[in-house]
Amino acid sequence: MDTPIALRNLPCTNIFHKGDVFVLFGELFGRGYANGLINEAKKSGMTIIGITVGRRDEHNALRALTPEELSEAEANLGGRIINVPLMAGFDLDAPSGEQTPTDLLAGMTLKSWQEDTLDWAHIEKCRDVGIERIKNSIAQVMEQLDEMIPDGSNAFFAHTMAGGIPKVKVFLAIANRIYKGRGERFMSSRALLDSDLGKLILMNFDEVTANTFQYLIEGSAAIRTRLEKTGGQVRYTAYGYHGTEILISGQYQWQTYSNYTQGRAKMRLEQIAVSAWDKNIKATVYNCPEIRTNSSDIFAGVELSLFPLLKALKQEQGGAWAEQQWQICQPLLLEDITLDTLLQKIEDYNTSAVMTDYRNFAAWPMDNSAALAELMIGTSDEIIQMHKNRTELVVGHLSALVLEGTGPLMFYETSHPAGPVLWLNHDIIAKQLNLMHNA
Ligand SMILES: NC(=O)c1ccc[n+]([C@@H]2O[C@H](COP(=O)([O-])OP(=O)(O)OC[C@H]3O[C@@H](n4cnc5c(N)ncnc54)[C@H](O)[C@@H]3O)[C@@H](O)[C@H]2O)c1
Repeated sequence: MDTPIALRNLPCTNIFHKGDVFVLFGELFGRGYANGLINEAKKSGMTIIGITVGRRDEHNALRALTPEELSEAEANLGGRIINVPLMAGFDLDAPSGEQTPTDLLAGMTLKSWQEDTLDWAHIEKCRDVGIERIKNSIAQVMEQLDEMIPDGSNAFFAHTMAGGIPKVKVFLAIANRIYKGRGERFMSSRALLDSDLGKLILMNFDEVTANTFQYLIEGSAAIRTRLEKTGGQVRYTAYGYHGTEILISGQYQWQTYSNYTQGRAKMRLEQIAVSAWDKNIKATVYNCPEIRTNSSDIFAGVELSLFPLLKALKQEQGGAWAEQQWQICQPLLLEDITLDTLLQKIEDYNTSAVMTDYRNFAAWPMDNSAALAELMIGTSDEIIQMHKNRTELVVGHLSALVLEGTGPLMFYETSHPAGPVLWLNHDIIAKQLNLMHNA
């Protein structure tokens, strides 16, 4: 993508109804983005089907859910779950009896990791094993799914998978420094990317965050052909991230969280949608705003771009309902702090020289820097201090609103999607929320 392609108009057509099937390709967590889409699918009366990534036993072997885990997950989803483990990535895969990539990383220490090297020929073999495993498992899922989707109905496949950080102690310590460290504790994201450890992590991100979308599209080809032959339609969506336009100096401007280590995998995800689109398959990656979820909590400062949504709600004619959102957020702050003070701090942050330099779409995803960490993590800390309680944050409320707004935007746009990659910026999210709540 040379420039971000924004969704500017509220979509309003819907081809999905009762009897059609919504398939969630990833697990559902409480604050996760997928809730927005699922809510819409349920409102339209669609049948909901989910998958599981499975669980690891005490020897790290991947297993299906136990009956108790399965019924809990199905109750949480509000639909049936196909119980074949779809854990992606190859961090714990290896040819039989050989070491996994995670085993290879086990010897790395905080002192040694930048010089430690990996046996790439062996890593490639592990990756091949992982790819074969997930493709076989997807084939099994599709066999079961085929029987659950009636001829002539429409199917909506929603990909939500992202991740791939290997579970090794040394990386926890490194991640804490790269994403949360400043001053003496700052660590450069470039150091990670230049190391063998970093290169392995990026490969695993590609597998989990991007390639699974490709495997989903390929694995469901027979279902797609059958449904299309019998009068149905098939759609694919995935959640991307590639920065977001937010209000800065009174105008919607593109900005990003840096360093977004998964950025290259997210661009690969976009390319997968573009290639599918070229083959007449309707696959759309929706690049979504920064919100706080289980997956994003590690990135200190990612939430700072969320605050100007409060201004966008007013700017997009949110009226009484927008005003109400301000009133919900104000009491979360200390008595002597106003939302205006907080928003001014965010405005100063966004218009600072450091942040202005980071608004470089062509150079995305840019490395972090000591100056960025100082400013971003420092501002994040200061803003948390402005709250009465660090577990009840303004961004908690705003994250829930964004998630709610993306639901109908993605759901309706996907009926007749304008293209393979679309940005959902604060303007359209605010318009959607205002429409829903002021109707
Ligand atoms: N939170 C944000 O700020 C933000 C912004 C833009 C896009 N997104 C994207 O939205 C999607 C959902 O993320 P979320 O933030 O709602 O968090 P989430 O934690 O709710 O979702 C993460 C998803 O990834 C799946 N997953 C994790 N590791 C996996 C693995 N090894 N194999 C297979 N699946 C795996 C989980 O099952 C879950 O469905 C992701 O693609 C994420 O990158 C998030």
